[in-house]
Amino acid sequence: MYAPRTDYDRAKLLVEAVQELSTDRTVSQIQATVRSAARELMGADGATFVLRGAGERCQYVDEDAIAPLWKGQDFAMEACVSGGVMQSGAPVRIPDIYQDDRVPLDAYRVTFVHSLAMVPIRQTRPIGAIGVYWATNHDTTDEELDLLQALADSTSVAMENARMLEELEQARLETLQRLALAGEFRDDETFQHTQRVAYTSALLAAQLGLPDDQVDLIEQAAALHDIGKLAVPDAILLKPGRLTDAEFEQMKGHPSAGAAMLDGSHSGALKLAAEIALSHHEHWDGSGYPWGTAEEEIPLSARIVTVADVFDSLTHERPYKHAWPVADSVAEIHRLRGLQFDPDVIAAFTSLDPSVLVDGNRHAPLRLVA
Ligand SMILES: [Fe+2]
Ligand SMILES: [Fe+2]
Repeated sequence: MYAPRTDYDRAKLLVEAVQELSTDRTVSQIQATVRSAARELMGADGATFVLRGAGERCQYVDEDAIAPLWKGQDFAMEACVSGGVMQSGAPVRIPDIYQDDRVPLDAYRVTFVHSLAMVPIRQTRPIGAIGVYWATNHDTTDEELDLLQALADSTSVAMENARMLEELEQARLETLQRLALAGEFRDDETFQHTQRVAYTSALLAAQLGLPDDQVDLIEQAAALHDIGKLAVPDAILLKPGRLTDAEFEQMKGHPSAGAAMLDGSHSGALKLAAEIALSHHEHWDGSGYPWGTAEEEIPLSARIVTVADVFDSLTHERPYKHAWPVADSVAEIHRLRGLQFDPDVIAAFTSLDPSVLVDGNRHAPLRLVA
C-alpha cells in the first residue's frame, strides 16, 4: 500500500497530474495519467478508469491496482457503482462494501476491494468515472473526495480537448486527401490511382501480419503518397515522352515536397503519410531517391506502398506509357524483388490476387492464390 500523503504532497501530485493532462493528446494518454495519479493521490490500492460506453454500459477501460479488478469488462449502468455515479453525477464513498446495498457483491467478492470512493468525470451528463479502492476499511474524507473530483474535472477538460484535436486532425487529413486527389487528377483522369494504391497497400500490410489499426493507418496515409506532385509543373508531370535529366531532377523533388506538406502533425495517419511520401521512391538496393537509403533503413510503410504504387502504374495507362498486361506487370514486380523491392513485401504480394488489385474494388473479398 502507498504511504499516507501530507496535504502538501497531495497538492503537488494533483498539480503535476493536471499539468500532464494538459499536454495529453489522446484518450489513452489521459487514461495512463489518470490511473496512476488517482491511485497515488489517494494512497489507494487500486484505481479504475470507467467510460460511459455504447448502449449505456459502464466500460472498465483501464486500471492500476495491486491485483486485477475489471479492466476490459463492461456492466449495465444499474449493475455497478460507477453506473450510479454516472447517472446521478454525484460522487460516492463506501467505507465497507459488505455493508452497502449499492455494491454488486458478486463482482467485488473476487477482488481485494474492501472500501472505495468514486467520482464522475464531468458533473453534468458524466462521460465516465474514476474509482479508487482500498483492501482495508478506508473512510474517505471530504478533502480526499474534493481532490479526486478536481482530478476528474481536469480529466473531463482533457477528454474534450482530445476529442476536438482528433476532429481537427481528421478534418485536416480529409482536406489533404482531397488535395492529393486533385493533384493525382492531373496525370490520372480516372483519379482512382490513390485509392487503388491505398487499397493494395492495406492488403499487403495485412498480409505481412501488421495489426488492424496499423493496416487502417497505412490505408489512409498511402493515399497521400504523391501529394508532393502538386509542386511539379504540368509540363513535366503530363509530358508524354521521356523526361530530360533536368526535368527528372525536378520530378525527384516530389517526395520531399510531399513530406514538407504533411510534416508537423500529431495525427498518426499524417505522421505516417509524411514518412511514406518521403520514402516511396527509395529502392531496397539503395538506388532510389531522394536519399538513396536501403533495405530496412527505408520505413516498412514506404516499402509496402512502393510495391502498390509501381504495380498500379504498370497496370494502368499513364501519360508516358500504355497499360501493361497484368501477367507482365506481376513478372516485372518479381524481377525487381531485392533490387527495387523488399523481398518480404513481394512474398506478401505473391499471395494476393492481382486481378483484384487492378480493379481496386474495395468490396472484393481478399482472395489468396497461395
Ligand atoms: Fe511518387
Ligand atoms: Fe503514385
